Amino acid sequence: MIRVIVGKDYDEMSKKAAEVFAKAMKSAKVLGLATGGTPEGMYKELAAMNQKGEISFQEMKSVNLDEYIGLPEGHKESYRYFMNDKLFDHVDIDKEKTHVPHAKDKNDDAACVEYDQLIDSLGGVDLQVLGVGVNGHIAFNEPDNELNYNTSIIKLTDSTIDANARFFDKREDVPTYAISMGVGKIMEAKEILLLANGKKKAEAIRQLLKGDKITTACPVTLLKLHPNVTVVIDEELEGAL
Ligand code: PGA
Repeated sequence: MIRVIVGKDYDEMSKKAAEVFAKAMKSAKVLGLATGGTPEGMYKELAAMNQKGEISFQEMKSVNLDEYIGLPEGHKESYRYFMNDKLFDHVDIDKEKTHVPHAKDKNDDAACVEYDQLIDSLGGVDLQVLGVGVNGHIAFNEPDNELNYNTSIIKLTDSTIDANARFFDKREDVPTYAISMGVGKIMEAKEILLLANGKKKAEAIRQLLKGDKITTACPVTLLKLHPNVTVVIDEELEGAL
């Protein structure tokens, strides 16, 4: 059974998601974090709650879902930069305990093995935040005949490159490979908080909430099998379901 929470717009969706996050933090030690336009507002809310002393990240460790391959260190579109800029620089987390995967190049399989070992050594993820791609991807697990259980290196689809081109000067600047947590590792999280807004995400969310099929052609549908999922959406998306 997937819980669905609807906010009237992006801001209210972000506030409601932050409430779910804050509640889960009471018993969480390891946070699984996501980047992208969708969770930005929630991170802002969480930073405000932290500054007011309502929540604390002091005891928290975090692992991020994914990272581009090939961007220079400190690049403004790297996911490490995003996390520092949108959350870590504004809360009382120990940055040494925050982890974003990193692969040197598209053949760096050792980085994948090490990342899964790290997650296991932390005791697994308690709360995993997810966005969803227009094509139904979760993290960078793109629709395909089969999906990876473990962290792996992924060639991004044209749809994902198109969707992410808005953050770069030109489409050719978008990296074509990324390191990404696999769907198995995501499903191992004790609790999942998925955020999605806008009608462009409606088809993927419709398949999750209303479709009967679980299919690697729409990776988000795998969440039907997870026992503890909350989906927070806005009214625009709800109206397009
Ligand atoms: P977005 O990306 O939040 O920028 O829409 C979500 C995703 O691709 O998983």
